Amino acid sequence: MRILVTGARGKVGAAAVAALTDAGHEITATDLGLPVFEARPDGVPYIRADLTDAGDAFAVVRGHDAVVHAAAIPDPISSPPHRVFENNLMAIFNTLEAAVRSGAARFVNLSSETVPGFIFPERPWVPDYLPVDERHPIRPQDPYATAKHFGEQLMDRAVRLSDITCVSLRPSWCSGRATTSRESGRGCASRRAQRASGPTPTSTTWRTRSDSPRPRPRPDTRSSTSQRPTSLRTSRSQRSPGASTASRRPRSDRRRSPAGERDLQRQGAPVARL
Ligand SMILES: NC(=O)c1ccc[n+]([C@@H]2O[C@H](COP(=O)([O-])OP(=O)(O)OC[C@H]3O[C@@H](n4cnc5c(N)ncnc54)[C@H](O)[C@@H]3O)[C@@H](O)[C@H]2O)c1
Repeated sequence: MRILVTGARGKVGAAAVAALTDAGHEITATDLGLPVFEARPDGVPYIRADLTDAGDAFAVVRGHDAVVHAAAIPDPISSPPHRVFENNLMAIFNTLEAAVRSGAARFVNLSSETVPGFIFPERPWVPDYLPVDERHPIRPQDPYATAKHFGEQLMDRAVRLSDITCVSLRPSWCSGRATTSRESGRGCASRRAQRASGPTPTSTTWRTRSDSPRPRPRPDTRSSTSQRPTSLRTSRSQRSPGASTASRRPRSDRRRSPAGERDLQRQGAPVARL
């Protein structure tokens, strides 16, 4: 299969290129960065493209059977909000539009576990129930999660208007060299230092449980106090068998386990605030 991987220099994109190449597919990699003149050691052709530009998107998508779309600004804290929203929404719109118009058979959309409402809400947010699954109500506040939510809706639109098959995945905390400091806690520490030196218009203050006021329980929600991201993988607009599905529990099974909740509270996950 001829597959285009966008965001190919990122954590998820690079892993997808390697896995799909190993599986015997014919891959084209694309990203924002300059290509190098020398051939890549893996022999995968690379094309530089900014997918917010429709012309770039149509030029790189054409001729592929499938697209794995991993290109995005992957958080709402390190770029201005309008940049995150515009980049992520227009990149997915153009890439999907190009896939539909050029007759690609399949589109894999890297969405996000933030779509239901965590990890970057401005106002306190707690899930209605745990574990969060794909039936959880969608209440994003930040520009990143909102654009991801709209991206999933674009998948629904694409399958309404064409024969393309679309799958949205909501990965959680994919690791790579770039995230080492965040996962070791140093990212949180540097953000606390940044807060101490004063806020910037685009900065986000990270608070750990130890320095966060505990949100007051709301009487009308069946909520947990933990905002630790729950691993979630979901598919939408999905037509083909064998693609991923998240567990769909009957509502009666969604009781919280007190032991599990205590365990989550003890872990003291970082809570982000814009
Ligand atoms: N890493 C995670 O834990 C995680 C969790 C949930 C969702 N996601 C999603 O998975 C995807 C990949 O995430 P990642 O962690 O590999 O991010 P990353 O930042 O490592 O890689 C993203 C790549 O997209 C490219 N890109 C951004 N805007 C572009 C544009 N307009 N045109 C072309 N390329 C562009 C960047 O240059 C970068 O190389 C993203 O959509 C992200 O939102 C990641």
